[in-house]
Amino acid sequence: MIDKIKEYIGVAQSFSTENKEELEAFRIKFLGKKGVLNDFFAEFKNVPNDQKKEFGQVINALKNAAEEKVKSIVEALESKEETKGIFGDLTRAAEPVIVGSRHPISIVKNQIIDIFANIGFNVSEGPEIEDDWHNFTALNLPEYHPARDMQDTFFIQTNPDVLLRTHTSSVQVRYMENHKPPIRTISPGRVFRNEAISSRSHCIFHQVEGLYIDKDVSFADLKQTLLYFTKEMFGKSKIRLRPSYFPFTEPSAEIDIYWGLKTETDYRITKGTGWLEIGGCGMVDPNVLKNCDINPDEYNGFAFGMGVERIAMLLYQIGDIRMFYENDVRFLEQFKANI
Ligand code: PHE
Repeated sequence: MIDKIKEYIGVAQSFSTENKEELEAFRIKFLGKKGVLNDFFAEFKNVPNDQKKEFGQVINALKNAAEEKVKSIVEALESKEETKGIFGDLTRAAEPVIVGSRHPISIVKNQIIDIFANIGFNVSEGPEIEDDWHNFTALNLPEYHPARDMQDTFFIQTNPDVLLRTHTSSVQVRYMENHKPPIRTISPGRVFRNEAISSRSHCIFHQVEGLYIDKDVSFADLKQTLLYFTKEMFGKSKIRLRPSYFPFTEPSAEIDIYWGLKTETDYRITKGTGWLEIGGCGMVDPNVLKNCDINPDEYNGFAFGMGVERIAMLLYQIGDIRMFYENDVRFLEQFKANI
């Protein structure tokens, strides 16, 4: 009899199924009212006294083995059901993952940042809502200075001291106020000007401005830095600096790059000259340094600024600046490969 029970223990232990009905059949067979276990219990009274102890032990072992088995299979089946509930059919083909694309303005902005980061420039940022000091006065544009008209300004409500920054030069003022030279920083960001919206200009656009302050900085350093940038960004290795005027730099210049005249598009975008203007630059005016508590007798430097939209339009042959702000997915999706 004891051997028989031991045999059943083996059967119970090696039982396995993934099927609920089979499990139920197993449970009834072993643990049910008319099951094997109860039959053995009923036999108990017939067992000779000297065997009762061992008989009791094996019969308990059988009971435990059967109960353990049922419990572990129930748990396994339940956890499988949960998995199925959350993930569905795991053998099903994967659904395509729809990924977004970075905005072309961000792509170009990041490229510019990378190029300048390689020669030691860090990135500085500042508020879009500015005060008069950081956007104008500190930049050598005192009140009533006629050059203020160069940048049509959006003022916030009727307070002439609070405005939307017209350039990110304001960030450079903040940076100079808070850092000692040597300074090598670029300030990318959104700027605002009260201009008529057309295919070439918008009242909201983006700039990257650069600032370099140290001892004995020369105009040649500025030109070399810009040349390095145009080579990296456009693969063009000829630039020219055309004399210009900005209140915060002296001397000042417009930056032109030689685009070439190979194709019809080259003719169109350079108006037949081969040259293309990409921004402004100059040696920082000593007054600006003074306003930021930097001694102009000890330090000097250069600054430059360029429009991100303009560069993106050039690189991607985009004919209308307004496309950047319409958020038309058909337009934006075309930049997926450029991340
Ligand atoms: N801040 C000027 C602009 O917005 C650009 C510029 C920056 C020019 C630095 C010279 C030096 O037009």
